[in-house]
Formats: sequence, structure tokens, C-alpha cells
Amino acid sequence: MNAPPSGSTCKVLADDAHGITEAAGYIRDGQLVAFATETVYGLGGDATDDDAVVSIFKAKGRPRFNPLIVHYADISEISRDVDFNARAQKLAAAFWPGPLSLVLPRSANCRISLMASAGMDTLAVRIPDHKTARRLIVESQTPIAAPSANKSNHVSPTCAEHVISELGSDIAAVIDCGHCTVGIESTVLDLTVENPIVLRPGKVTIEEITSVLGTTNVMNTGGNSPNGHDIKSPGMLERHYAPHQPLRMDAQKAEPHESLLGFGPEASHATLNLSPSGDLDEAAANLFAMIRDLDRRDFSGIAVMPVPETGLGCAINDRLRRAAHGSSA
Ligand code: TXA
Ligand code: MG
Repeated sequence: MNAPPSGSTCKVLADDAHGITEAAGYIRDGQLVAFATETVYGLGGDATDDDAVVSIFKAKGRPRFNPLIVHYADISEISRDVDFNARAQKLAAAFWPGPLSLVLPRSANCRISLMASAGMDTLAVRIPDHKTARRLIVESQTPIAAPSANKSNHVSPTCAEHVISELGSDIAAVIDCGHCTVGIESTVLDLTVENPIVLRPGKVTIEEITSVLGTTNVMNTGGNSPNGHDIKSPGMLERHYAPHQPLRMDAQKAEPHESLLGFGPEASHATLNLSPSGDLDEAAANLFAMIRDLDRRDFSGIAVMPVPETGLGCAINDRLRRAAHGSSA
């Protein structure tokens, strides 16, 4: 019921009222639809429907212990499913709609499939800053569980073609909304503990979160529990975002067999440049598409020039470290 016949590929829907209505029909019917958010494309299914949530895990090849982010169009719906505490309200006022996912306790009457929480008593929620995503949620009349629309551990998709190449035969449809503007996944913040913890660095930085929460001590463990043991955000396994070719960081130049992914004005010799002007927003928006592009070329490795470890650069380097982990080069 949840996938088109094997070998066939999904429908590509236009980013207009007709396309969204058709996509919402599939979601209500328990099928899967990929759609853009401001960060990356999501693989969406009805978050209240166990079967739809199971088919998300199956399509991605994702381990069932790794919970999903649930997407909403408004806070009143969110507060039915989680305990939306004062800290969450402050952060929502500052950053929503936007690329911040909040991990909160599931409410007593939570409607969301327990599988989306991977059996835990917490749920990650966010309101995406993308009109199509929010219209899809409203028309589907249900919160939408949506991990990034890639096979588990691969590079996240930032355009419809990326989704079709990996998941085209596993989903009913993709809404083609062009390229994602942010290009890197949301910041995941655990608000279930006294000192909030950044479980995954993203566009919203720890400094911005700290300034909204005032005196609260915000901790950063994003990426520091890499072996899968004692892990609060099981998606933060070391080997993630992996291209097929080995990737190495902090390179000044490429070896003969490698492509070179550059950053900044000094990188005129690079095969591709994340941002010739050295702009971190531009680099984040280009990151996954350029890694995918280089991975398809006739090289046997990807060398990446240094990206500054400040602001959004922390999230970019986090994804690069994961892509590099386990690489022999
Ligand atoms: O930008 C994004 O967040 C994209 C778009 C589609 O919204 N979604 C996304 O989902 O990146 P996904 O599934 O690829 O990554 C979700 C991350 C994983 O690291 C997962 O372990 C963590 O969030 N997560 C989800 N629910 C959690 C929970 N209850 N507790 C701790 N971590 C959680
Ligand atoms: Mg992902």
C-alpha cells in the first residue's frame, strides 16, 4: 500500500495548489511524499499512523532505534503532543518557523506513533520555514514525520533529483520545490534536561540559543557520542552523510586521484568552491549538492579545504567530519 510497484518511479508534483492537494491525499492515505523544507528535503508520512511511520523506516533503511522529527504548521497542534514548556515557548517565538527542532516530553495524550519516538518518552518537533511544507501539513490534517529524504547514512538531499535518485521507487511522490535555501539540517536541541543540549549543530547556533534562554547553560554534545553507546540523538552516529568516495578534511591541495572542494577566495584551483567569497550561508547551501556532484565524478577521493569553525561553520564541519569518518584517505 505504501510504495509504488517495484521498479517504477514516483510522481513528480509541481509546487502549486494542485500538487500540494494531491500530495496531501497520499499522506492521508498512509503513503509517503518527499517535500522541501528550508533545510533539506524530508521523507514525509502521517506521524499518527504506525504503518506510515514503519514505511518511512523501511524506505530509508533506517534503524528503528533512531527517532524521527515531526513537522507541524502551528504551535497549538504541537502542544497537544508534547509538554510545550516555557523554554520551548521562548525558543519558538525566536526561531519558528525555522531550522530548530526541539526534543520535548511526549504529552499524556500524544497522538504521534510511538515508533516516531523510537519507543522513547520524548518527541522532536519543529515548524519548517517553507510555505509548501506548512500547506502540505495543513491540507494533510495531520502532523508529518519527516527524516531527511535519503537512504540511511547517505548525504541529505537538497533538490528533488537527489530524492528521486535514492528513493524514487519507494515513495508515492515528491513535490519539486527547487533547491533548499539553508542546505544543512535543523539544529536539534534537547529541552528535556535542566541544561539544554545541542544534539546536532545546525543553522541556529548555540550562541543564538543561549542569548534567547538568557542565563541557562546550554551544552553542546553534538557529535560527541559517536559510537552509538549512551547516545541521546541516535542519528548522530559517526559514519553519516557518507559519500561513496573517501573524503578528507583540512586539505590545501588535492592528490592526483582526488577532486578538491574549496572554500573562499584562495580556492581558485578547486574543482568546486563551496563559496568563492567565503560566505558560510552559501557554503552550507552548496555542501551536500557539491559532495554528491564530486562523488559522481571520475576521481577516487574528495579533499576538502578548511572551513572556519565559527557560527554555521561548526555545523558544516560536523557534517564533513561524519562524511570523512571511516574513509581510508
Ligand atoms: O532539517 C531537518 O531536521 C530535516 C528536515 C526534513 O526537517 N530532518 C532531518 O531528520 O534531518 P533526520 O531524521 O534525518 O534527523 C533527525 C535527527 C536524528 O539525529 C535523530 O536521532 C534526532 O534528530 N532525533 C529525533 N527525535 C529525537 C528524540 N526524541 N530525541 C533525540 N534525538 C532525536
Ligand atoms: Mg538525516
